[in-house]
Amino acid sequence: MSLLIKNGRVVTATEDFVGDVLCEGETITAVGQGLTAPDGAEVIDATGKFVFPGFIDPHVHIYLPFMGTYAKDTYDSASRAALVGGTTSLIEMVCPGRDEDPVEAYRFWKSKAEGLSACDFAFHMGVTRFDETTPAALKQIAEDGTASFKVFLAYKGALGVDDDELFQTLKLAKELGVIVTAHCENESLVAQLQAQFLAEGKTGPEWHEPSRPVQVETEGVRHLMTFAELTGAHVYCVHTSCKGAVHAATEARLRGVNVWVETVIPYLVLDDTAAQRSSENGWPDFEGAKYVMSPPIRAVRHQPFLWDALRSRTISTVATDHAPFDFVGQKEMGRGDFTKIPNGIPSVEHRIRLLYTHGVAAGRIDLNTFVDAASTQAAKLFGLYPRKGTIAPGADADLVIYDPAIKEALSVETHLMDTDYDGFEGWQVDGRCDLVTVRGAKMVEAGKFVGQLGHGKFLKRQPTHF
Ligand code: URP
Ligand code: ZN
Ligand code: ZN
Ligand code: ZN
Repeated sequence: MSLLIKNGRVVTATEDFVGDVLCEGETITAVGQGLTAPDGAEVIDATGKFVFPGFIDPHVHIYLPFMGTYAKDTYDSASRAALVGGTTSLIEMVCPGRDEDPVEAYRFWKSKAEGLSACDFAFHMGVTRFDETTPAALKQIAEDGTASFKVFLAYKGALGVDDDELFQTLKLAKELGVIVTAHCENESLVAQLQAQFLAEGKTGPEWHEPSRPVQVETEGVRHLMTFAELTGAHVYCVHTSCKGAVHAATEARLRGVNVWVETVIPYLVLDDTAAQRSSENGWPDFEGAKYVMSPPIRAVRHQPFLWDALRSRTISTVATDHAPFDFVGQKEMGRGDFTKIPNGIPSVEHRIRLLYTHGVAAGRIDLNTFVDAASTQAAKLFGLYPRKGTIAPGADADLVIYDPAIKEALSVETHLMDTDYDGFEGWQVDGRCDLVTVRGAKMVEAGKFVGQLGHGKFLKRQPTHF
């Protein structure tokens, strides 16, 4: 099984040239100009189109018991949605309850993907409790190839850890050479502000952002930085939404803390007016609940800051934090009390097209930064590089042929994500993922899923952050 892609504009994090890519079996075997097709190879003409490395989404939720309900997708819907959107590898957060056995939870999460996922997958192991049994369990999970952890400084009493647990987790991660990804918000401040607003009768989705303002997130990042500095652990701030939080991480980096910063596509393209959609403002009742996620979507002035931080590579990655809940029956659980709206926005299918449209086509970032932020950096930080994240001989044949000339509108009518709404309904995007391969197998053709469920493999990763 060989595939020769000819005359495409091949873009990696550092290169940009018109040329050819040869895939044999599961692997890229040659990259260059004027390559000849081996006997029996299929030749695809990519003239006028981009050839990108398969994109990696390093922050998704697929199986997620959360806020009294469950996220909507399975690996059936989520991996097909990821692939038509150009994402060939997912890294999912394992989020066990405090009372669950970590190894059993890890196996359970993994079993949801194995044999079903069409794209490749890996996990960040959520540490939601730390006691004397935890080190052995986490060591076993790391040795299985899950070489990154996740902690929540928010959601106390559910997924969140206290400061003793945070310190112990970071110490252990440093010993094991495992990077710790972290949700940074000060939970006590959130609880106080939520109670205050509810007591004042402020119950709608528009009060979600004011209940978790930028100071709450900035304090969360500073808090993590102190712990990272004292333990020497390598840390990664997930879903960073605002200037204060990015600055807190950057200041720590300047004093030697090993920290990297992620943002997510909703923060780059949406602003706080989305959650303010209410009947008073001419929208259908409770529409704003569709845009409730944590940290919240911020005032529009944060967008240019985030784009600049991406362009300067101060922000390393653009993920989604895909956390899909239906409007009917799920988001609606928070009618009359915004603190009960399940947090999350479905976006795994749209990340690349939105980032291309609002980033590259709008002139905010260049093509190399686009590939770096959406693929290469995630591969490097999470132990997948150079197998994933680039186009080079020896790398997995995960490729995206992107046709920038096709313009389409996003819609719940056509998306593959398993939710009853699309947060980007009617938005026009520039480009379509024409062909997508995972380890040489065609998963998408002419923008449609043509692959096989179960093709995806678990990506074993080695610790790299000593
Ligand atoms: O609102 C969000 N972000 N939902 C998913 C859970 C998390 O905090 O990442
Ligand atoms: Zn989070
Ligand atoms: Zn603090
Ligand atoms: Zn998340």
